[in-house]
Amino acid sequence: MDRIRIQGGRALNGTIPISGAKNATLPLMIASLLTDETLILDNVPRLADVALLQHILGNHGVDIMVSGKRAGDNEHTGQSMHLSASNIVDTTAPYHLVSKMRASFWVIGPLLARMGEAKVSMPGGCAIGTRPIDFHLDALKALGTEIDIEAGYVLAKAPRGLQGARINFPRVSVGATHTALMAASLANGESVIENAAREPEVSDVAECLQKMGAKIDGIGTSTLRIQGVKHLHAARHAVLPDRIETGTYAMAVAMTGGDVTLAGARAELLQDALDVLQKAGVTVQTTNEGVRIARNGAGLAPVEVTTAPFPGFPTDLQAQLMALMSRASGTSKITETIFENRFMHVSELARLGARISLDGDTALIEGVEKLKGAPVMATDLRASVSLVIAGLAAEGETMVHRVYHLDRGFERLEEKLAACGAAIERVAG
Ligand code: UD1
Repeated sequence: MDRIRIQGGRALNGTIPISGAKNATLPLMIASLLTDETLILDNVPRLADVALLQHILGNHGVDIMVSGKRAGDNEHTGQSMHLSASNIVDTTAPYHLVSKMRASFWVIGPLLARMGEAKVSMPGGCAIGTRPIDFHLDALKALGTEIDIEAGYVLAKAPRGLQGARINFPRVSVGATHTALMAASLANGESVIENAAREPEVSDVAECLQKMGAKIDGIGTSTLRIQGVKHLHAARHAVLPDRIETGTYAMAVAMTGGDVTLAGARAELLQDALDVLQKAGVTVQTTNEGVRIARNGAGLAPVEVTTAPFPGFPTDLQAQLMALMSRASGTSKITETIFENRFMHVSELARLGARISLDGDTALIEGVEKLKGAPVMATDLRASVSLVIAGLAAEGETMVHRVYHLDRGFERLEEKLAACGAAIERVAG
């Protein structure tokens, strides 16, 4: 298994191009199942999760073509992907594929809406809490689906098609909103989704569905109103920039010091996190190119943060903020409200010298003068990258093991950081 070796203590300076968002790309690719015409996605990042989903969709019969670079594209331009589900040959998503990536469970909505049936393995993915699927299933039931669970599979049937319905989620769920939205787009009549996720990736998918002919009102709000249509058609859509990648590199720069432009980033997608960085004493500036992050010399002030659904502070940046605050002058408090058990990075950060104590869903981080390099183990996607960030600021060598998690969600991480002066390299095997 590959490792990442970091010699810490170097400031980051330069430009980091921000890739298309993983969490929009995955549901957008899945949306291709809703139509027999071709969906073209631009700005698709090169990630292990994207490759895995290509494989899963291929199993259902989706033809996928990734076009090469065109004249004028720079090397950082994302891929263009053509997805054509003209003929769905299999409505089963098997365990050995779905168990590798939780989001692949989301094929259930479009398969059901288009084919009237789906058999999808219960999901796996990052080991952060139990991550149930009850909201997905309740939404599909409300739309008229018969659901059975058998031998680890969800068997969903709607032989007479889906019927529009009112769905009110008990708490905000990104995935369940995707499922309900995609299914309702092809249902008979009107659906209303209340307490819908407002995450920018949900809006990106909704906008793509509109281009495909879906009738959706209320995009960006917590009430989505959908008039079902009989068919969706071909469309072309560019994936929005990755706000989690943006926030991650912003915290890396805040941690090491330096001055970096995050090219293509959109500040409004992560305003709350950028506000937190500013409170901590980091310079954040919106420019024509993207977002500029700088910290020169000054220490970091401690912060108090509680994770929340969008537009609140994202749980996917919680581990990175914790790494950053391990160097603040004072004690920070971070409360995690989205996922239980999302503190697996704490014990690894402690190996680098961070002082963090846990009390239920709250972490108290007592800033230390310096971190010291050590071997650490990546446990999930966002936790892994928090270890990389900490390693960049730690004295001496940090070796991050099990980096396959990073490859799931960060495109060319070492390359992007090295281009800004980090001493970071991948060690194969
Ligand atoms: C998505 C993101 C993930 C992010 C998370 C929260 C993708 C590919 N992944 O994950 O990076 O951390 O949103 O912003 O977009 N829940 C239930 N029942 C359900 C579904 C969810 O109880 O049926 C709970 C979860 O356990 C969790 C909360 O709802 O406590 C939010 O989870 P959800 O928004 O669904 O996360 P994902 O869509 O899996």
